[in-house]
Amino acid sequence: MTDISKEAALQQLRAAFIPQGPFNITPYFAKSASGAIIYDVEGREFIDFAGGIGVMNVGHCHPKVVAAIKAQAEQFTHTCFHIMMYEPYIELARQICELMPGDSEKMAMFANSGAEAVENAIKIARHYTGRDAIIALENGFHGRTYMGMSLTSKVKPYKHGFGPMMSEIYRFPSAYCYRCPLGLNYPECDVACADALNDFFISYVGAENTAALIAEPVLGEGGFITPPPEYFPKLIKICRDNGILFIADEVQAGFGRTGKMMAMEHWSEEADITTLGKSMAGGMPLSAVVGKKEIMNSPQAGGLGGTYGGNPICCAAALGVLSAFKEENLVARSAELGETLRQTFESWKSRYELIGDVRGLGPMLALELVTDREAKTPAASQAKELVKFCFEHGLIILSCGNYGNVIRTLMPIVITKEQLDRGLAILEEGIATISK
Ligand SMILES: Cc1ncc(COP(=O)(O)O)c(C=O)c1O
Repeated sequence: MTDISKEAALQQLRAAFIPQGPFNITPYFAKSASGAIIYDVEGREFIDFAGGIGVMNVGHCHPKVVAAIKAQAEQFTHTCFHIMMYEPYIELARQICELMPGDSEKMAMFANSGAEAVENAIKIARHYTGRDAIIALENGFHGRTYMGMSLTSKVKPYKHGFGPMMSEIYRFPSAYCYRCPLGLNYPECDVACADALNDFFISYVGAENTAALIAEPVLGEGGFITPPPEYFPKLIKICRDNGILFIADEVQAGFGRTGKMMAMEHWSEEADITTLGKSMAGGMPLSAVVGKKEIMNSPQAGGLGGTYGGNPICCAAALGVLSAFKEENLVARSAELGETLRQTFESWKSRYELIGDVRGLGPMLALELVTDREAKTPAASQAKELVKFCFEHGLIILSCGNYGNVIRTLMPIVITKEQLDRGLAILEEGIATISK
């Protein structure tokens, strides 16, 4: 064996044994992590503004989460909830139902990934309504399974070559105010993009055939597109008037990411069904479908579930996450972090022409990069360059958006001021370098 670095050796093995499909943003290999810091196998330190794609809201290796995982692992790791039930599943369902917005009685079930939660939400909605069609938003992302991918709006890399997609999915424009699909301006538009749903039922799919409309409160992969305050109340009213369920996909926006526990709280709206994942279990693979009792209880026994869904270690980790949120006031910290970020990003926007738009909610905040502010030309290669500049200087950050020209922040809420300042300094240096 030649004398090469640990990283180089792992890179060779990665190239030899793992296909390119499961992609990599950085060329590095993690060794350990804590809070908002990741160390790699070469001893480098990285500030984490990505949180493993929005998973680490409570921070890496939060002591409460680690303790809960250890304690549960020493009791038992698996029985399968369908074979012998256990308390962490029941207790987590109770707590999740209680923290959801709205007064309706709720029920919850657990799965392994965000995509799987979406799959189950669609099954439940179709079963309850007896209808087939699903409306999803342009710029939406709902996962990589066949239903998740079919509901997703970005072709490359998510759908390309994987057809045929699932049937009875209809795509409705999103409230992308920076690039309004109707060519209007907010607020003079009176949020006509939501009213357009009534016409959609005439031209694209009958309301009486539609089981559900699924939407991310803040569109994640699609570019942190954040609808105005009137949008969801209007859209949900049209759905309710037509017996259509509203599914909020909070997989990325939920669990304190937007300065509220659930992003739909910003619109004071209750979804019929909500999907959760990512940050709910501090890095353990767990997702949830939670919704109104009569809807959730519609599918027959055995119609929902799976071998691992709601694994006891994952449920214990999620209970640790919820206790961290309560005891450390993480929702309030998230709102404060969001304020700091917004002020910083707005000040950058006034200094760097490259930044066309600052948007998001709380610390789920993004910079849309453009090469020309008038024409709003997406600065895709510059965004790619910026992500690379950042990781080469010790900051992990992600891009998103259908053109890949949006830089998004998904750092742990527990990030310290010193770490945040250091990360922002790297990001600004990158923007300044690329702007030259
Ligand atoms: C809004 C949303 N829904 C669903 C998913 C899919 O989640 P997972 O990757 O855990 O399957 C994601 C993942 O990014 C997401 O952001």
